Amino acid sequence: MTQDEMKKSAAVKALEFVKDDTIVGVGTGSTVNYFIDALATKKDRISGAVSSSEESTKRLMALGIEVFDLNNIDAIDVYVDGADEITEHMHMIKGGGAALTREKIVAAVAKTFICIADESKQVPMLGKFPLPVEVIPMARSYIARELVKLGGDPVYRQGVVTDNGNVILDVHNLDIINPKQLESDINALVGVVTNGLFAHRCADILILGTALGPKIIK
Ligand code: A5P
Repeated sequence: MTQDEMKKSAAVKALEFVKDDTIVGVGTGSTVNYFIDALATKKDRISGAVSSSEESTKRLMALGIEVFDLNNIDAIDVYVDGADEITEHMHMIKGGGAALTREKIVAAVAKTFICIADESKQVPMLGKFPLPVEVIPMARSYIARELVKLGGDPVYRQGVVTDNGNVILDVHNLDIINPKQLESDINALVGVVTNGLFAHRCADILILGTALGPKIIK
C-alpha cells in the first residue's frame, strides 16, 4: 500500500464516526482531503461542516457541503484532522499546512478529536518534524530570539501567510520531553498566536492507515 492509500483508508474509516444530522469539524491537509471527498458521499445525512481553513472550506463547498461559521454553532460532535506527528499519548505536532490556529480552535469546541494519519506519522517522541509557530508579523524576530532561548532553531517559512494574516516560524531541534509544558511556554510569548503542539487538546481516537488496513487506537 502506498502512503496515499494508507491516508485514504484512514480517512474513509473516519466516516463511521460521523453521526447523522450533526455538524462535522473538518481539519486541513492531504489526509483530510480524502476525508472531505468521503464525507461528500453522505452529505445529505449530515447538517454541514465547520472548517479549519480556507482551503478545506473551498473543497467542502465545491462538493456541496454547507460550511457554517463557528460563531453560529453550539456544538461539534467530531473533529477529523491529520497530524504531522503523533505519539502513543495522542500528543501531536500539527501545522505543516499552516492551519494550526483554526485547527486548534475547532478542536477545542469538538467533543471528540479523531486524528487520521498514515503510519509514518506515529513517532515515539515529538520533534523530528519542526514545530510550527504562528506569529504576529511584527513580533517575528523577537519570537525567533525567544525560541532560541528555549533551545530551538526557528526558520521563517518564507512566502507563507496564514488564513489569519500571520507568519510561521518552524522550530527545529527542540527537545520535546514535556509537550504540555512546552506548548504553554511558547504560547505565553507575546506575539505568538499559537503553536502546533496539541498536547492539552490531544486526539481522542487515532485512525492509523497501515499496510494491513486502518487501525483504530483509543
Ligand atoms: C495543517 O496545518 C496540518 O496541521 C495538517 O493537519 C498536517 O500537516 C497533516 O497534513 P497531511 O495530512 O497533509 O499530512
